[in-house]
Amino acid sequence: MIAATITVDPTFRIAPVNRRTFGTFVEHMGRCVYTGIYEPGHATADEDGFRKDVLELTRELGVSVVRYPGGNFVSGYRWEDGVGPRESRPRRLDLAWHSIETNEFGLDEFSRWCAKAGVEPMMAINLGTRGVQEALDLLEYTNHPGGTALSDLREQHGASPYGIKLWCLGNELDGPWQVGHKTPTEYGRLAAETARAMRMIEPGLQLVACGSSSSRMPLFGTWERDVLRETYEFVDYISCHAYYGNDAGDTASFLASAVNMDHFIDSVVATADHVGAELKSSKKISISFDEWNVWYSDRSRSTDGPGDQWEVAPRRIEDQYNVTDAVVVGNLLISLLRHSDRVAVACLAQLANVIAPIMTEPDGPAWKQPTFHPFAITSRLAAGDVLHLQTESPTVSTAAYGDVAAVDAVATYDEGRLAVFAVNRSTEGPVQLTVDISRAGVTTIDEAVIIHDSDPLATNTAADPDRVTPQPVDARLQDGKLTITLPAISWTAVSLSTDR
Ligand code: AHR
Repeated sequence: MIAATITVDPTFRIAPVNRRTFGTFVEHMGRCVYTGIYEPGHATADEDGFRKDVLELTRELGVSVVRYPGGNFVSGYRWEDGVGPRESRPRRLDLAWHSIETNEFGLDEFSRWCAKAGVEPMMAINLGTRGVQEALDLLEYTNHPGGTALSDLREQHGASPYGIKLWCLGNELDGPWQVGHKTPTEYGRLAAETARAMRMIEPGLQLVACGSSSSRMPLFGTWERDVLRETYEFVDYISCHAYYGNDAGDTASFLASAVNMDHFIDSVVATADHVGAELKSSKKISISFDEWNVWYSDRSRSTDGPGDQWEVAPRRIEDQYNVTDAVVVGNLLISLLRHSDRVAVACLAQLANVIAPIMTEPDGPAWKQPTFHPFAITSRLAAGDVLHLQTESPTVSTAAYGDVAAVDAVATYDEGRLAVFAVNRSTEGPVQLTVDISRAGVTTIDEAVIIHDSDPLATNTAADPDRVTPQPVDARLQDGKLTITLPAISWTAVSLSTDR
């Protein structure tokens, strides 16, 4: 069997684990909101119409922050439509997803849902069809304590200030599919003026400027540069979005998707630092990786409704994930954690039904996709500081990225607790992994679990929701060395501590 080695040293710290790495995303798209998180009349619905089964799974997933309400949806959205008495809320055309938006669920419901789920809201504003004034109105409604038209309106709706800190200045405005698509300079100017004005209300907001919709966009690199030249002093973060698929059936390259994510992050950090140098600024812009996941479905089909039909909450991109996808998701989390010094926020897109870790049926059950598990376990075990690892691994060859390390890993260390997360990206065979943990002083294995299956395409369904679950794995600890066999296409987590 081929072998890989990792050396752990708790003094080689990259940065503290950022809880906001474990974010997700709720968009008014398909069935993410309607019959996803919200379904009055469902057997588990609470007094607000929120599905309690989904709330419970959201907590188990270990979600920290949830981005809302889009996505492409936000670029044509009027936030006022989704507040106040339900009977007077308008039905609108949603051009992004060719559907009808009933506005039965809006900002007030989302804020209540966040409180119940125990997550922080991350609010996106419409800079597609709207501008500075509407952003200010929204901020006054959500955050101002009272005594003004919009803060009093919120009080009339029965709500205290929401205190939302984290704001996205639009969504994917580089994309020609976006309602209100813009050039980098048009967008950069609008984002800068919106940010400047929002800070006049609340200087301490944390603001995200839109980066490219993907690293494959024709303007990737120049978009970030030009947008940051306009916005650098007014924003905190620049966004990254990345979706990985295995459409061409090239599993070796698909399994190495995190190589692309590593490169993507490094490129955006380099671009941001370049602009900082040009501007002679000592400030550092970090990354909000506010959309990432595996996504298979044909993207062109996801925007087109069937003919002239405009439906309420139609099924859109309800990808069914398998074991291989779960390994890739686990590896993408390894990449995000490894970049904790510059990735401040990350959102798995989306939360329910739409390319999601949680699936539901209307009037029916909710269940976990295989991708749920690496996310939930990483969120639960990662703590303290992310460590830089010394890794020696055999390579696998991929058409997309050349030769890449078969084993990719990250570790976190928190006062006598060590967590190691590792993938074997080989499709061919197992790797014997030895982790030298002698410098970490940990002596006991508390938990060792693996996501792997003899069928890498195994999946979970409503009828068989636990076909793919984490299994205990044989991990041994002797003389400061942890040894585990990582089967081909597998993701493993081990947590260790000192005897007390
Ligand atoms: O998450 C689905 C869509 O993907 C989002 O609406 C958009 O921002 C991205 O292109």
